[in-house]
Amino acid sequence: MSNPRIPRPFFCGNWKLWGTLSDSVALATGVRNAVAAVTAADVAVGPGFVALGTVADKLKGGSVGVAAQDGYWELKGAFTGEVAMAQIADAGATYAIVGHSERRQYFGETDETVARKAKAALAAGLIPIICIGETLAERDAGRALAVVGKQLDGTTSSLSDDELGKSVIAYEPVWAIGTGRVATPAQAQEVHASIRGKLVQRLRARGQQIRILYGGSVKPDNISELMKEKDIDGALVGGASLTVDSFAKIVQQGVTACTRS
Ligand code: 13P
Repeated sequence: MSNPRIPRPFFCGNWKLWGTLSDSVALATGVRNAVAAVTAADVAVGPGFVALGTVADKLKGGSVGVAAQDGYWELKGAFTGEVAMAQIADAGATYAIVGHSERRQYFGETDETVARKAKAALAAGLIPIICIGETLAERDAGRALAVVGKQLDGTTSSLSDDELGKSVIAYEPVWAIGTGRVATPAQAQEVHASIRGKLVQRLRARGQQIRILYGGSVKPDNISELMKEKDIDGALVGGASLTVDSFAKIVQQGVTACTRS
C-alpha cells in the first residue's frame, strides 16, 4: 500500500510563449482528460494571458488548475500592458508564477519586484509559485546555495508567515532550463534541502508543508528519479508540458515514484 506524500505533490506546466487560443484549449482539455484518474497530486497548466480565461472556463469544476506566468502588483491605473493579479484571479486562475528566470533575465525583474508580485498574488487569493535558481557561473563558483538562499530571503521576507505558508517555491537552475541538461537528483535535492531548512527555520512544522518544485528540463524519463528525493515535491515543466502525452506521463510517473512505500 502506498503512503500519501506530504506535502501533496504538484505538477505545473509553463507554456511560456506558445500557442493559439485553439491550441491552448486543445492542450488543456487533453491534459484534463489524461490525468483525470490522478488523485494524489495537484496539476495545473500555464497558458499565455490571451488564452488564460478561456482555458480556465474549459477546466472549471475539474481537477486541473490554471497558472498565470506573471502578474503585476498594482490593482489598477496607468500601467500600460500590465495585468493585475486580481484580473488573473477573476479570469479563473489559481496560481501565478512569479520571478521566472526568463523574466529576471529579459525583463529586468529583481527579488524586490518578485516579492511585490508574490504579495499581490496572495492578496488576490492566488497561490504564487516563486521561482529562484542560480546561473551556471554561480554554480561553478560554488555559490549555488548562497545565491538561492539570498533569492529566497529577498522574495519571501516581506511575506507574513501565513502568506509564505500558502506559497509554492520553484527551484529552477538557470543552466537547466530549456537546455536538456537536467540537474541530477542529488544536485537538486541538495538545493531543495537547503530551501527546506530555511523554511523550517522560519515556520517550524509548517515549513515542511510548503511545496518545493524542481524545474529545468524535466521529462518523462527523469521525473521518477527526481521525485524519489525527499524534498522534491513536484515539477514546473516547460517544453515537456506542451504535449498531452509527455506532461501526463510526467504527472503519472511522478506520482507513482513518490507514493510508492
Ligand atoms: P524546460 O522544462 O523547458 O527546461 O523549462 C523549465 C521552466 O522554465 C519551467 O518554468
